[in-house]
Amino acid sequence: MCGIFGYTGSNVANNLIFDGLKRLEYRGYDSWGIAILKENKIHQYKNIGLVKKDKDLEKLPDAKIGIGHTRWATHGGVKKVNAHPHISTEKDFTIVQNGMVENFDSLKKQLLKQKAIFKSETDTEVIVKLVEKEVRSGKSLKQSLITSFKKLEGRNTIAILDSKQNKIYAIKNGSPLVVGLSKDGIYLASDSLSFSPYTKKIVVLDDYDMVEIEGKNISIFNIKTNRKKKPEIKTLKYQYEEIDKGKYDHFMLKEIVEQQKTINYATEYTLEELKPLLEAIRRSKKAYILGAGTAGFAAGQIGYFLRTIAGIDAQDVKSYEFRSYLPIITSKDLIIAVSQSGETADTIEPLEILKKKGCKIASFVNMFGTTISRMSDYEYYTNAGPEICVASTKVFTAQSAWGYLLAMSLAGKHTTAHRRLKLLTKSLNSLFTPSSFDYLKRMCGVLKKSEHMFILGKGENSFIALEGALKIKEISYKHVEGFFAGELKHGVIALIEKGTPVFGIIPDDHKDNENKDIISAIEQVKARGALTIGIGSEQYSKLKIFDYFIPTPQINSLSSIANVIPFQLVSYFLSLQLGNNIDKPRNLAKSVTVK
Ligand code: AGP
Repeated sequence: MCGIFGYTGSNVANNLIFDGLKRLEYRGYDSWGIAILKENKIHQYKNIGLVKKDKDLEKLPDAKIGIGHTRWATHGGVKKVNAHPHISTEKDFTIVQNGMVENFDSLKKQLLKQKAIFKSETDTEVIVKLVEKEVRSGKSLKQSLITSFKKLEGRNTIAILDSKQNKIYAIKNGSPLVVGLSKDGIYLASDSLSFSPYTKKIVVLDDYDMVEIEGKNISIFNIKTNRKKKPEIKTLKYQYEEIDKGKYDHFMLKEIVEQQKTINYATEYTLEELKPLLEAIRRSKKAYILGAGTAGFAAGQIGYFLRTIAGIDAQDVKSYEFRSYLPIITSKDLIIAVSQSGETADTIEPLEILKKKGCKIASFVNMFGTTISRMSDYEYYTNAGPEICVASTKVFTAQSAWGYLLAMSLAGKHTTAHRRLKLLTKSLNSLFTPSSFDYLKRMCGVLKKSEHMFILGKGENSFIALEGALKIKEISYKHVEGFFAGELKHGVIALIEKGTPVFGIIPDDHKDNENKDIISAIEQVKARGALTIGIGSEQYSKLKIFDYFIPTPQINSLSSIANVIPFQLVSYFLSLQLGNNIDKPRNLAKSVTVK
């Protein structure tokens, strides 16, 4: 959460920072700010809401150096005064921060006793005051930053604009920070995507690296080891000139439709490329698959495929609930981490602990050069391209499809998996026709009147029910719960009233008794007046129990991947009708880098 962007070079920093912040907006969009340095004077602009130009922003003088920030509020409400950057009393430096100072309370109390005056409610201003105190004691700004940073608890990354020396300093811990090296200058950002149009050459910073940027030069010093480091330059595989919506009104719809390609991009891996991981899985005692939110549900899908297709002892675990597994996980177990951003604090934390335990780590991540992939012994990528909408769609199906490929490859059916995945993506166009969209829009016109909805899934579609519910609630703000269908009669049925929408996922490739269970669950809710919606094999559309039916392509055990798409579309069309902010839903951030 929160995005940092910085630039020094021969181009005008103002526009570059503004454009960079627009690309980083997915990380937080409560408020934002820019600081530029012109003739040793810092000029700042802050605002609440989305990153957009106005007259006051245009008033900033053109400069060649500056930093910017998009905020996702932790300490202090969404107010201009809490937006970053936070400038020092003497106006000689200004700071932006990504993370959370966990010992904020005690530090602030100490500083207040020493008569420090705070203008904002943020933890960032505590850092400013700590640094000021060190500077006043005679230390250089650089040394003051190091001393102050070491007092901070939690995952924190900061960038500082120094007016006296015309420099940018930054220190990373936990929250990501990447340097971009271009002919025109140096870029600094929370992700490489935000400066992708300008360079493919990057330096990924490690925890406690302090980077000092002056003109077009950088130097790196690790404040923990007290050693200078030679910057390790990497070249990114992909460069994205434009990250735009194309012909779509929202990134979400663009990304949903893109699944016709991205499922294949994620599963292009050859047997040779997968071999190291396949062998590690075979060698391991047990495979634990970790993820949070949507990635946690993808972990569930991957585990399901590994158990049912390849007979692997695989267990999905919500990364933030890994602690109860610690007593039984040994170095003989393999950990597979699933993440879009590669920066989710909830997932990084167990990986750090399990790595120390001696476990091998594999990861399947969408963003390059991230903390999770850099921690991994086996590094794989979704290759789905930038996913900008906060709600994950194309990355979920990419992750699930990769799990299918992995399981099929372990079962000696790698070629069959590739063939079926191609067949699946070809047949997905039936979900994206104008008539299919019209049907969904009409149905959403009815759904929007309900405050509560339920989704029932079983077997391969259990996690699809949970993911479908998360997708709809994230953007529509409706109360939608996904359940394993078996739960219905054990309690959930008490919630069903006349008109309550209930979705039932019903594929044709399940064993008969599983579909019988879904049919009987739908019959039971129908008998209590529910509005029933079927998603799955067209053969069931004729059953009288469904009020609406959305047929999905049925390709062996891949129909679950197709079944999630109608939920993504319902989420989109419903939220559109409700007038919600589709790509940037309230209270959420794309990359959850704080605990
Ligand atoms: C997805 O729609 C959500 N916004 C969220 O649950 C997300 O999947 C979760 O925060 C994990 O993120 P990651 O994939 O970047 O690790």
